[in-house]
Amino acid sequence: MGFSENAITVLKSRYLKKNERGEIIETPDEMLKRVSKHIAQLEKDFDYWFEKFYDLMASLKFLPNTPTLINAGNPLGQLSACFVLPVGDSMEEIFEAVKQTAIIHKTGGGTGFSFSRLRPKGEVVQSTKGVASGPVSFMKVFDCATESVKQGGVRRGANMGILRVDHPDILEFIHCKEQENAITNFNISVAITDDFLEKLKNDEEYELINPHTKKVANKLKASFVWDEIANNAWKNGEPGLVFIDRINKLHTLKGVEIEATNPCGEQPLLPYESCNLGSINLSKFVKNSSIDWEDLKECVHTAVRFLDNVIDVNSYPIEQIKTETLKNRKIGLGIMGFADMLVDLNIAYNSKEGVKLASDVMSFIQKESHIASSNLANERGCFPAYENSIFKDQNIPMRNATTTTIAPTGTISMIADCSSGIEPYFTLAYYKQVLDGKKLKYVNERLLDRLQSSGINVDDFLEELIANGGRLKGLGLPKSIEDLSKIFVTSMDMDYTAHIDMQAAFQNYTDNAVSKTINMPNSATVDDVKKAYFYAIEKGLKGLTVYRDGSRSVQVLVSESKQ
Ligand code: CDP
Repeated sequence: MGFSENAITVLKSRYLKKNERGEIIETPDEMLKRVSKHIAQLEKDFDYWFEKFYDLMASLKFLPNTPTLINAGNPLGQLSACFVLPVGDSMEEIFEAVKQTAIIHKTGGGTGFSFSRLRPKGEVVQSTKGVASGPVSFMKVFDCATESVKQGGVRRGANMGILRVDHPDILEFIHCKEQENAITNFNISVAITDDFLEKLKNDEEYELINPHTKKVANKLKASFVWDEIANNAWKNGEPGLVFIDRINKLHTLKGVEIEATNPCGEQPLLPYESCNLGSINLSKFVKNSSIDWEDLKECVHTAVRFLDNVIDVNSYPIEQIKTETLKNRKIGLGIMGFADMLVDLNIAYNSKEGVKLASDVMSFIQKESHIASSNLANERGCFPAYENSIFKDQNIPMRNATTTTIAPTGTISMIADCSSGIEPYFTLAYYKQVLDGKKLKYVNERLLDRLQSSGINVDDFLEELIANGGRLKGLGLPKSIEDLSKIFVTSMDMDYTAHIDMQAAFQNYTDNAVSKTINMPNSATVDDVKKAYFYAIEKGLKGLTVYRDGSRSVQVLVSESKQ
């Protein structure tokens, strides 16, 4: 099998089946057979699809999200990574959502919430005459519950907390993670409305609305709140932004309202919806310095069928989630290994050609995934909410309300041994501390290959590279390898516009959203952060996460694989 040593380590730690004594009782190959068997169980031609699904994963061309790999064919049987739960404005509803969160985390899923329906802090509660605690206080309850569950050993729980910019508690929310250890199991984002952006443009005040009474509670200068958001993002990478009106405008379903996304932001969902993701490893589709489009097409079609099957063989943790998910049948096919593909094609990430490649690849994947979903609709029927979708207006049968999402692929990219999601390389070489005090050298394998064939002294060169923070930029390179510095770029070698250009190129051809970090150097200013916000709006992004190098001691989720 093609798994790397690193991949085997990851698989052994969490993915391979264990007995009651904690001993591993399956091989990586048996794991893939377990998953293929479970996902192909509803197929009339089981043997054919079992082989197809198995081959797709064994070749590392495609992997489903972590819960599918861990739980398929096992007693938990919960296969989705993404959930959004509604939080209503009553004790019963809040604690019901806490309970549902715990149940989802136990199975390896991540949860997103909008807290915008909760009445603001300090409002009198009719039944008790006490005062309401407000959204931030209740977020701490969800955070504690998450801390205690620890996902039953599957993985640490992850949450997204969202508050609308026009909620009266917005300032407290923006500051709620300022202290390093506060609400650590949450990523937070402000839901930015078009009205707010309009007021910001005209340098006006906007209204904060109490969601309980629907009355205007206060007014704030839009530019003041915008500055507060940018200041905090500059200080510690949060809050992120979610352009909620844009998300709803581009939603394929009509007459319903999205208010939140999953933990890493790539999957906006309706209340009680869940979604399963899967990612194509692009590094496997470069042959003789060009893309094998035929192979990629076949991969997309098989992957869409795989993900559609997941919806039917899934064990849903909560009845409402089953109902909502089966109505819309959203799936999220994305990619990983994009930085590897660029290098293999000798194209720089931060170049016009790089952005064009992103558009070419993603438009192809989106188009083929829609054709695949349409073919499935002809075979199996359209998704039940089809009548209320934009596809009905266009007269295109569809099995799934959405087909594409670009996930961070934090762990599955380690299993496939490729670069994560659509991110550029974070570093090209570094020393990793291992347990017994020894240092282990990590070097980008593609770079190592090129260095070895260039005739330079590789060992000496790698020491210099590591001393330069794993970046070729800034090193005086020998003539024979001078060209490499254009191609082997890292996320710190480019400015925010290059990051946003890439996110936009992918977002243009993605039904759901895109997980991406907009990295900035430590020297970036608050003004740079605001410029990035405006550029993201101009480019039509659905959301944005800015991270200034060194601004937080521990980075969450997205960057786990790059530490
Ligand atoms: O690579 P893997 O399939 O493990 O996950 P990912 O692509 O890094 O993350 C995809 C989604 O899985 C996230 O946006 C979360 O919804 C969920 N997730 C989670 O719940 N807990 C984690 N520790 C990591 C991811």
